[in-house]
Amino acid sequence: ASSTEVDVSAIEPGQAIKAVFRKQPLFVRRLTPTEVQEANDVDVSSLRDPQTLEERTKEGHGDMLITMGVCTHLGCVPLGAAEGEVKGEFGGYFCPCHGSHYDTAGRIRKGPAPKNLEVPEYEFTSDTVVRVG
Ligand code: FES
Repeated sequence: ASSTEVDVSAIEPGQAIKAVFRKQPLFVRRLTPTEVQEANDVDVSSLRDPQTLEERTKEGHGDMLITMGVCTHLGCVPLGAAEGEVKGEFGGYFCPCHGSHYDTAGRIRKGPAPKNLEVPEYEFTSDTVVRVG
């Protein structure tokens, strides 16, 4: 299995980029402090797929959200990484195929998708480089 290296140094708070991991889209997003706060303000027990932002990020890099760009409903690519303001009702990602809304932690909040956007295995190999896989 191959891994992918992503340089995250140029990603500004509030910005997300698309990369490719094992031939699938990968979203790398640097959250603003407000987006972190929004994610942490949610009552996790109310979620369909209960996870905290902390569980979905790495220690010391809690503002860097790395997920697969693959809707957990039927596999469309959600909007919100390269499409500016198209982030859905919860400020994260929006899948236009059947209307799934993901929040700023990439967690499913509304629509048919059963699970949060998948967080792949990854690690920071330096302050600015992430190796996925
Ligand atoms: Fe995303 Fe159906 S594939 S909502």
